[in-house]
Amino acid sequence: MNVRIGDRITADKNVCATVRATADKLSALLYAHLVFDTCLAFRYTASNMRLRGKTAIITGSGSGIGRATAELFASEGARVIVNDKNAASAQEVVAGIRARGGEAEAVIGDIAKPETAELLVSATLVKNAGGIDILVNNAALFVSHDFVHDSFEQWQRVVETNLFGAVRCSKAAAARMIQAGRPGRIVNVSSVHAFLAENRSSHYDVAKGGLDQLTRALAVELAPHDILVNGVAPGFVDTPMSLVNGVNELETETFREIYIKRRRIPLARPAQPEEIARVILFLAGPENSYITGETIVVDGGLSVTF
Ligand SMILES: NC(=O)c1ccc[n+]([C@@H]2O[C@H](COP(=O)([O-])OP(=O)(O)OC[C@H]3O[C@@H](n4cnc5c(N)ncnc54)[C@H](O)[C@@H]3O)[C@@H](O)[C@H]2O)c1
Repeated sequence: MNVRIGDRITADKNVCATVRATADKLSALLYAHLVFDTCLAFRYTASNMRLRGKTAIITGSGSGIGRATAELFASEGARVIVNDKNAASAQEVVAGIRARGGEAEAVIGDIAKPETAELLVSATLVKNAGGIDILVNNAALFVSHDFVHDSFEQWQRVVETNLFGAVRCSKAAAARMIQAGRPGRIVNVSSVHAFLAENRSSHYDVAKGGLDQLTRALAVELAPHDILVNGVAPGFVDTPMSLVNGVNELETETFREIYIKRRRIPLARPAQPEEIARVILFLAGPENSYITGETIVVDGGLSVTF
């Protein structure tokens, strides 16, 4: 049985009874906290975790979608390598996972630098576990870009991070998986920008388009080694990436008018990072045994309307 954060506990009647007995003496608010915490404790010790015994590297997991994925994977029993170029945020995610009884290690590094991929696959946690089972290529950056006037260096930075970072990490992880003779999963975090173009986003659009083709190419090449390669393509997600030039685009009147009120996003809201993380878990976990080379669009219907 699977228990989700916030669910009522029905799985373990003893735990439930203890919580209720204690909660009778407490305020309603404290009761809610107790149920929440007990669910977390239950998740981190349950025997039916989907990623039990697996080691997963998640790039850019100090924030947003990567962070939600690291926390979800850890709650499903994975040993998680939390990579980010921002040391403080990676360490905070690791501390949170460990506090709940999960296994995590921070590997600080910029995936645009060639040495980071090797550092990631040789991290202590990977070595101790005997290898790497899952790689989530999530780290990316977005900068608004004027194609004609802005510098070419900006193109290089975005492509080095958003595309070549994933290439380098996939190469290093696949080599380890093949060497260890263990089946693996690679999940690339793409975007609707891979197939829809937005003003002032040429470098980001091109990098994400390349990432989707990398998903297909590696799915074909790595299939003989039992390595499944897939992607998720989010639309708008409520993360710090929505801050462009200091403005949160999800909070602008234009966004509310077009995407919410006029339902340019048919579900009339941006996604929460956890909603993307659950699709990544599906692709990386045991429920997926026959999908490879596919990128699942998770955009609330944004790309099927006009
Ligand atoms: N937020 C959205 O609306 C949205 C939509 C579609 C796709 N995406 C994609 O989702 C993924 C995650 O984005 P997010 O919204 O969670 O963003 P975020 O800004 O919240 O998190 C990105 C994290 O990656 C890290 N990072 C950036 N460059 C890095 C590098 N070179 N090396 C290591 N770490 C690096 C950042 O420090 C940050 O912690 C990205 O691939 C992004 O393109 C996001």
